[in-house]
Order: sequence, then structure tokens, then C-alpha cells
Amino acid sequence: MKIAVLAEHDKDETRVAASPETVKKMIAMGCEVHVQAGAGAKSHVSDDDFAGAGAKIIKTAGPLLKDADIVLSVRRPSDAAIKTMKKDAVSAAIMEPYGDRDGIGLFAAQGVTAFAMEYMPRITRAQSMDVLSSQSNLAGYKAVIDAAAEFDRAMPMMMTAAGTVAPARVFVMGAGVAGLQAIATARRLGAIVSATDVRRAAAEQVESLGGTFVMVESDDEEGGETAGGYAKEMSDDYKKRQAELVAETLKKQDIVICTALIPGRPAPELVSKEMVESMKPGSIIVDLAVERGGNCPLSVPGKVVTHGDVKIMGYMNVPGRLAVNASHLYAKNLMTFVDLLIDKENGKLKIDWEDEIVTGTALTRDGAIVHPTLTE
Ligand code: NAI
Repeated sequence: MKIAVLAEHDKDETRVAASPETVKKMIAMGCEVHVQAGAGAKSHVSDDDFAGAGAKIIKTAGPLLKDADIVLSVRRPSDAAIKTMKKDAVSAAIMEPYGDRDGIGLFAAQGVTAFAMEYMPRITRAQSMDVLSSQSNLAGYKAVIDAAAEFDRAMPMMMTAAGTVAPARVFVMGAGVAGLQAIATARRLGAIVSATDVRRAAAEQVESLGGTFVMVESDDEEGGETAGGYAKEMSDDYKKRQAELVAETLKKQDIVICTALIPGRPAPELVSKEMVESMKPGSIIVDLAVERGGNCPLSVPGKVVTHGDVKIMGYMNVPGRLAVNASHLYAKNLMTFVDLLIDKENGKLKIDWEDEIVTGTALTRDGAIVHPTLTE
């Protein structure tokens, strides 16, 4: 069984889909691992590091892919790469299939089984393969560090002979994986932290990290969440009451970290232009939801913009700004997934189509697009 690790074709992607540690483990599973030259460069993993772990370094994608049984990458492989893969090969990556039917169709046409790692079900058994969690956690941390670096004041309270420095006030919108790490990071830096979410269950988690929970009570019986634990789209009345509460809260903040997402939908708009204009001079907004439209309509993908005296940071691929850690964790997520696909008896591919981890992540099978979100 041959596993290929691709160098990313997107020049802005800094992460890599394997680490020397996962290469060793995949070899111990009975696989041969081939890594494209330079794949780890932006994560500070050299070809020699991969070779030292037992991988064979292959210069270009063509020879790497033509006989690979499993292809690992961070982003969806390029069209040309997919067309080089052999029939019945497996490709696992963060596929972002919405709006990319043609790309996913290429996998089907090639007879490749494509798995979208971001569709990993949120079940206990899949936690070690959960790329959204491993990457969002880092993004939440980095968002606070990015904000602190741009902020023209200190984060903690400091009592000095020359006077007292007031602590920064940080407000986190969306208390999921990224939001909770943002709360923890801001607290570690000494800020006064509050947070909001539509899911009632988030209150306890926010408070256990030392944050204050600010929430509009809904009459929703499920506590604002779906059976899968994700946020629901809320009613118009709820949105109106939430906007009023947010407007009041924002006026008192120094830093706002936006992380609110609703699966399969554009990010909810939570911080309007008027709200930005009501914020204190020198305030900072970090919009982690920018890749899905943003929680603030003024945020610009990939840019730091200033509106009045408020800075709005719209960095893309925030986990990739911590490439070393992000690659390390992503590689482990993938390696655990590969382990699930291999028959321990003979070291061959054996996909259990009864397993909800397999059916939850598979986009294509036997020449067809099969994921319900793409077929309905
Ligand atoms: P996400 O990235 O989809 O959304 C981020 C946060 O934004 C969520 O907490 C969501 O409730 C919140 N949000 C959405 N709309 C909002 C609005 N209008 N106003 C305020 N907040 C809003 O969520 P993430 O981080 O992926 O986590 C979702 C849930 O899944 C959480 O309960 C988390 O604890 C749970 N989870 C479970 C795992 C497991 O059991 N294996 C693994 C990871 C997360």
C-alpha cells in the first residue's frame, strides 16, 4: 500500500498533510510513504526530516500520484493532480466541496474515493480525526495574539508607581472550539473576557474559563442547537434582540473576536457598520468567520482594514499562520483516519461503508458523487 503526501498547490497554504511522526506510524502500519519534495518546507519540515522518518522523496506530483493508493493533502488536490490519480485511489483533504461541484465531479470521473475531512462527524470515536477542532483551536488562540499585537494598549491590569493600566476588555462572539480557546488565551493574557453564543450549553463552558456569558434567552426548546450540537439559524425576533444586546455590549469592548458559524450557511452578521462606529477608538475586531462571509460586513478577506478608528482583521487561513502546530495536529488527524481505512491483516485498503465516519466524510464512491449535502 502506497501513501502519497502532496506538496500544496495553493501558494498561500503553509501546512502539510504529514509529519515525520505520522510517516513513521504509517510505515509501522505496513505502508510505503512517498512525500513530494518540498511539501513540508513552509512548516519547517525538510525533505531530509521526512526521509529520516522512512519516507521516499519524489520530485513531482505525476510520478508520486500515478500508483498511490491513498493521497493525503491539506486542500483539495489540483484538477491536474486528480486526473493523475489511479482508479479506486483514496484522496483525503479539507475539500470545501460547496460551490466546487466540478472539482468533486473530477474525483468521481476518475473513480477516486474522495473524503472531506471537515465533514468528520462530531462523535467521541472521531475526536482524534476532527480537523475542524484541531485547526479551530489554533485559530482561536492566534486571533487573540493577532489582536494583542495590533492593540495600542496592554492586555493585563498593571499597577505601577506611575499609575494603573486598565485591563483590556475582550468580547468573543461564538463560543465553539475557536471561541473557547480565544477566551482561554485572552484570560491568560489578563483581559476581562465576556462571550456570547446562541447555544445555551455554551454558558457553562464560558464561565468555567473565567468568562462572563452574555446571551439573549430564546424560547427555543433545543437551546439554540441541532441534535449534532451545532448552532441553529435563529428566528428574526431572536436576531433583533441579540443585535440590541450586542450593540450595548460592543460599546464597552476593546477587542472583539468573531467566530460564529452555522454549518452549511453563510456566517451570521452580528457586528453591523453602526455597531463598529459605536466602538471605542483604537478597538480591534478579528473576524475569523471572514472566509464564510464574516460576522462583520466591513471585514475584507485577507486584509486588515481600518474603519474610523477601529481596526478589522480578516486574515484567511488563520491556522496556517501557526503552520508548525497546525500541520502537526492535522497530520495526526489524517493518520488516525488512514488507520481506519487499512485492513490490519493484510495491509490493504478496506473501507467499511457501514461506518458513519466513512459515510459522513465520503464525497465520491464508485464513479459517483454520494455525499447527501451534494446530491440533494
Ligand atoms: P462552529 O465553528 O460551527 O461555530 C462557532 C460557534 O458560533 C458555535 O459555538 C455556534 O454555536 C456559534 N454561533 C453560531 N451562530 C451564532 C450567532 N448568531 N450568535 C452567536 N454565536 C453563534 O462550531 P464549533 O466550534 O465547530 O463547535 C460546535 C459544537 O460542536 C460545540 O458545541 C462544540 O463543543 C461541539 N464539538 C463536539 C465535538 C465532539 O463531540 N467530537 C468536537 C468539537 C466540537
